[in-house]
Amino acid sequence: MNPMTLRDIGKNSGGDFSLHGPVSLVGIGLDHETGELLRRFTEAIPMIRCRALQHDYRNENHDSIVGWLGAPSPDVCLIDFDKDRHAAAQVAEIIHAALPGTAIFAVSSQAQPDSIIDAMRNGCSEYLVKPVGRDELLNAVARVGGRKRETKHQHNAQIMTFIGAKGGCGVSTLVTQLGALLASSHTRKTLLVDLHPDFGDDALYLGLTKHRYHSFELVENNDRLDSEFLQSFLVHHSSGLDLIPAPEGEEFTRFILPGALAKTFDFLRRSYEFILIDSPPGLNDQNLELMRYSDHVFLVTVAEVSALRNVVRHADYLIQKQLSQEKVHVLLNRHQKRSLISDGEIEKVIRKKIFWKIPNQYAHVVKTINGGNPVAQLSSSEVMRNLNDLAGILGRKSGSDDKRKDAFGILKFLNR
Ligand SMILES: Nc1ncnc2c1ncn2[C@@H]1O[C@H](COP(=O)(O)OP(=O)(O)OP(=O)(O)O)[C@@H](O)[C@H]1O
Ligand SMILES: [Mg+2]
Repeated sequence: MNPMTLRDIGKNSGGDFSLHGPVSLVGIGLDHETGELLRRFTEAIPMIRCRALQHDYRNENHDSIVGWLGAPSPDVCLIDFDKDRHAAAQVAEIIHAALPGTAIFAVSSQAQPDSIIDAMRNGCSEYLVKPVGRDELLNAVARVGGRKRETKHQHNAQIMTFIGAKGGCGVSTLVTQLGALLASSHTRKTLLVDLHPDFGDDALYLGLTKHRYHSFELVENNDRLDSEFLQSFLVHHSSGLDLIPAPEGEEFTRFILPGALAKTFDFLRRSYEFILIDSPPGLNDQNLELMRYSDHVFLVTVAEVSALRNVVRHADYLIQKQLSQEKVHVLLNRHQKRSLISDGEIEKVIRKKIFWKIPNQYAHVVKTINGGNPVAQLSSSEVMRNLNDLAGILGRKSGSDDKRKDAFGILKFLNR
């Protein structure tokens, strides 16, 4: 694999680098001058994002560091070693141990070999001497971008979160059928995770009623995750789709700690090509973390005023939380050509193009759910053919000639 060059990273569109998402940075304890350099640097290069500038050091336990730096973990932490060398070394060690995927760059005015070696021992992979040069920083970040690209090539599922503009829009119907079609018609290794804290329907819709453990137990035990442990959570569908079901009417409210979702999916994504998440509706911290972490967010709506109003609320909320709008796609379910609200009116209201429309075919949907196998319904059901087309676009294999067939420009839209 060729190392990435300065020129590659400088190109702000196209190239492999952009295909694998921007490199995210967090500054810790940076002096004014370095902070300013980082700000100008990230403003000039869209494929590098400065996630946050933390003014002081923290050296609490790993979980709080994960929460502090945000999810998903940043690609790079830039730590200033001048203000408090001891605290900086401690925070570097904690990040190094807790987030092996995060590169740590030391920034310091001390250029003695001993200082550099000490910082390397603390887990820093780069040592940048002040005043930090723009090109020096760019090259160091490019090396991280190159490693990110390599890791992605090994195995790294696309994470797709499906969330209803309100309850009952059809999220569980769509994810179960899409998941089964991705696994069978398109032979993609696919996992579906039902994250409803209670009354999740995915197991029922797939006719899989026997299971011992559920998604919340998995997330709560993310520190025990290994392949064997994971196996006890998986329920296998005849299509080849794996499911981690939701709890069934628990007696107490389940709460997921910040950072736990990211840790769990960091592990799960290594074993799959696609992970679909059935998320309960709502604008809350847990859903925000999930949406931040996901590669794509599919907001499922129907052509009703209350649902469309919530699509707009989601968009406003996500803008306020600085979440990229590009990865949010609107799926219009139960679409009818002669609807009271036209597609044009919908797009005007939601200030966004409808990404995909799924026809309203209640009888077919119910038949497929009762039969538990969408593939068997492909010849007779328009809605299953529609979802199979969508699964084909989402599950396109790289190097296939689907690009030429991409009449909607959707692959470009998905940035894949
Ligand atoms: N394309 C469709 N055409 C007709 N009916 C549909 C379609 N999609 C879903 N439905 C029906 O809509 C109802 C709600 O669907 P579903 O349970 O998938 O929604 P949900 O968003 O998961 O709901 P919840 O918020 O309760 O989790 C079901 O009765 C389902 O059969
Ligand atoms: Mg549901």
